[in-house]
Order: sequence, then structure tokens, then C-alpha cells
Amino acid sequence: MFTLAHISDIHLGPMPKVHWSDLLSKRITGYINWQRNRARNFSPSVLNKLAAHMKSAHPDHTVITGDLVNLSLPEEIERAKRWLNSLGDGNDISIVCGNHDAYINGMLEKAIIAWQEYLVGDDQTVVHNNDSFPVLRKRGPCSLILVNTALPTKPFDATGLFDQLQAERLEKLLSHQKDNCRVILIHHPPYPNATKPSQILIGEELFRDVIKKTGAELVLHGHTHRDTLNWLDGPGSPAPVVCVPAGGQAVGGLKPAAHYNWFEIEAEGIGWNITQRKFGYSKRDSGISQLDSIKLL
Ligand SMILES: [Fe+2]
Repeated sequence: MFTLAHISDIHLGPMPKVHWSDLLSKRITGYINWQRNRARNFSPSVLNKLAAHMKSAHPDHTVITGDLVNLSLPEEIERAKRWLNSLGDGNDISIVCGNHDAYINGMLEKAIIAWQEYLVGDDQTVVHNNDSFPVLRKRGPCSLILVNTALPTKPFDATGLFDQLQAERLEKLLSHQKDNCRVILIHHPPYPNATKPSQILIGEELFRDVIKKTGAELVLHGHTHRDTLNWLDGPGSPAPVVCVPAGGQAVGGLKPAAHYNWFEIEAEGIGWNITQRKFGYSKRDSGISQLDSIKLL
């Protein structure tokens, strides 16, 4: 059995010292949002306990679906790199970026270079920017396929983009990897009405069309900070699409408290058995325990 842990939307805090000149951009709106909401609802100790619990369970691989930082400040990107290093190396962890990792022009590329070992493909071709995706990383029986939807947007806009070029490449990759358990990592939810219009994935219909043609065994995303399970039509069985609450979300906020998901993956005949176990903080206390278990495939 292969075990895959999934956390997302780390929003690593506390915020480093911000110089006023850093805020002469969209960052000003994110900074105000951080001061008003995230500083209160996100806790480094919640995240650290969750990450320690997950690490102590020794997953075969860990995936993180974006928003490692908040304003894409260079200091945040460096801190996130150190945090990733504390969790494991690029053999053991795969990531994709979220809209907060691409907050203003040029920062997605800087984050990608800083976090390269966690998103470079098996062919070791350097990943530079959106045009380098999707990326293939084979781990155990899984073909992890990293899709990028993060791009800089205007203030109050947290949309993502899945473009035609990635759609064509994703279709090819999924077709070539159909004998493996194909797990897609993507930040934005790739189905309709998942968010308010200012947070949608532009091009989600292209993504759905690809899955309809090729299928996939599991799609993991973040962005909504919610505990959700949806399904996308495939040529055979539908593909489960799973989101996990944000990794640092404290108990008692408007969104569910921090979780990680634990997937147990086993080949069965010509298909796959996948069980999802949810670990996180319950509403009542600060301890972490298994909250639910679902057989997905
Ligand atoms: Fe987020």
C-alpha cells in the first residue's frame, strides 16, 4: 500500500516585517486582509502541530496544493523554503503554487526557483514559469501531475488560469500514464460554482474536458480552505476531486479547522483502491485525531 498525505493553503505566518515600499502594489489589500483576518484565524502553532502529526505518521509522499505564503514577499518565500526543508526534501514532497504565491508580477517565477526541488519533474528539466507545466513526478505506483493555475491578478481578484497549452499537455501526460495511479495537484478547484466569481478557475471547462477524455484517479486541490469531495466525469469511473481545509486554520473560525488528508492507495486488478482518512482538529479541542474515513475508489 502507498500512502499519500495532502495539506494545503499553508499561509505561513507570522508576517515578516513589511516595508511601506513593499505595499505600493496589490500587496496593500492582502496586507490589510492579513491584519484583519488571517493574523487572527491562522496560527503557526496549529500548523506546526498538524505538520508534526503528519510527519510522524511517515507518509510515503506528501503533497501541498499551494498558498505557501501570503503576499509573495521575498522573505516569505525564503521562510517557506526553510519550512519545506524542515518537512522533508524534494523526493518526499511535491508542491504546486497558489494565487498567494504569485501575488504580484514576477514573484511566481521567484517562488518556483526557490522551491525548485519540490516541483521539478523526473526529467530534471528546470521549471521556470507557467509554461513549464504540467510536471510529472512518479512516486511508488503514483504518477503525480503538477498543474499550475497561479498567476498574478489585479486587487480583489484571486482567479486562476488553466490554459489551452496546459490542457493539451495534460491530456498527453494522462494518456501516457494510464497504467499508474494518476494524481493531479492543482490549486484552484477545477469544477463549476466552487467559489465566488472573483476566485474561480478560468478554463476549468478545459480541465473537465481533459478528464472526460482520459480519466484520472485522484484530483487534489486547495484554495477554498474547505473539506469537500466532488466528482468529475471520466471515460469510465468518475474522478474524485478532494479539497482539504487550510493547514494553519485555527479552531473556531468561519472555515473548518486545519486538516490533512491521508490517502491509502492500492492496485486492485486493473483498477485502484483509494481510501481517504481525514486527520485534524475537531471543533471541541486542540488535539488532532482521525475525523473520518471514506472509500473513494
Ligand atoms: Fe489559500
